[in-house]
This record gives sequence, structure tokens and C-alpha cells, in this order.
Amino acid sequence: MRVFVVLFLVVGVAVTSGLVLLSSGSVSTPPDGPSAMVLSSGLSLYGNNCASCHGADGKGNPGSDPPLLKTVIVTGDPITLIRVMTQGTAKVILLQQRSKWTNTMPVNYNLTDEQIAQLLTYIRHDFGANSSPIETAQVAKVRLQYGGPSPGQE
Ligand code: HEC
Repeated sequence: MRVFVVLFLVVGVAVTSGLVLLSSGSVSTPPDGPSAMVLSSGLSLYGNNCASCHGADGKGNPGSDPPLLKTVIVTGDPITLIRVMTQGTAKVILLQQRSKWTNTMPVNYNLTDEQIAQLLTYIRHDFGANSSPIETAQVAKVRLQYGGPSPGQE
């Protein structure tokens, strides 16, 4: 009889610890930084909307389009970066003593707030030395505050 009780206890402990192991495995915290899904979506949005001027590698074109690699605007305050996209460079106070570029940065992209967030998260991650991700809510807030074209209004 005693043997059964001990066996019962051993099996019980084994099952319980197995469950604990299983559940602790499934609640592991996600790695820091943007998800692979956000980055791959941002990459294709960048390719479709920006790479023709700024280059797939973010190096720009001499004389016509500036590089995006680790610039103050790409790595800096998210609000300024969002405004560059939603209002254009002319309306946003950018760096003093800027170089003169022969191209003009367009404003209307017909992208949703979420797509803009993904795109900017991608350039901050890949060209901006891992700067913090941009959230959809931040884009929505900046659009509300400063205006700028909404998706579908071209
Ligand atoms: C038609 C060419 C063109 C396209 C397309 C374009 N840009 Fe630009 N972009 C420019 C030019 C030219 C400037 C410089 C404007 C200035 O200095 O006033 C610029 C400036 C910028 C800057 C500021 C750079 C800095 O650090 O000074 C950022 C950020 C930027 N663009 C991001 C983007 C993103 C993101 C896209 C795609 C959604 C995009 N651009 C699409 C031409 C373009």
C-alpha cells in the first residue's frame, strides 16, 4: 500500500513539473525591437515609395537626394521624422545649413498610419542604428496635431 502512495506522489510531481515547464516555455517574453513582420512590411513599403530616390541601401543620390543612413532626422525625434513624411520637408523645420538637393520630397503616399509606422520603423532599424520603433498611434497623433494628407486624399 505504501509503495502505491509513493509511486502516486512521484508521478504526480513529475506531471506537475512537466506542466510548469510547458507553461513557462509558452510565456517567454518576445525579443526587444520590432517584429520580423513589421520589418518586412516596412522594407517593401520603403522599396515601393522611397528607394527610387533614397536608394535601396539608404545612400541617396549625389546632388539630388540625401542619404538616410544614421542622419539626425532618421535617428532622432520620432515626431520630426513622421512630419517629414506627412507634411514634407518644406513645412518642417529641418536642420540649419542643409545641403541643396535638386529633387523635392513628395508628401502624398496614400499610406495608412500603420503603414507609415512600419516604414519608419524599418528605416530607423536598418538605416538608423536600431533607433526605437515608431508606433501607429504616434503617427495618428502627429497627423491630428499637424495635419497632412490622409490615406486616399491625393
Ligand atoms: C522624389 C524623390 C524622393 C522620394 C520618392 C522620397 N524622398 Fe525623402 N527626400 C527627398 C529629398 C530631395 C530630400 C531633401 C529635402 C530637403 O532637404 O529639404 C528628402 C529628405 C528626406 C528625409 C530627411 C533626410 C535628412 O536626414 O535630412 C527623410 C527622413 C526622407 N526624405 C525620407 C523619405 C521616405 C521615408 C520616403 C518614402 C516614403 C521618401 N523620403 C521618399 C527626395 C525624395
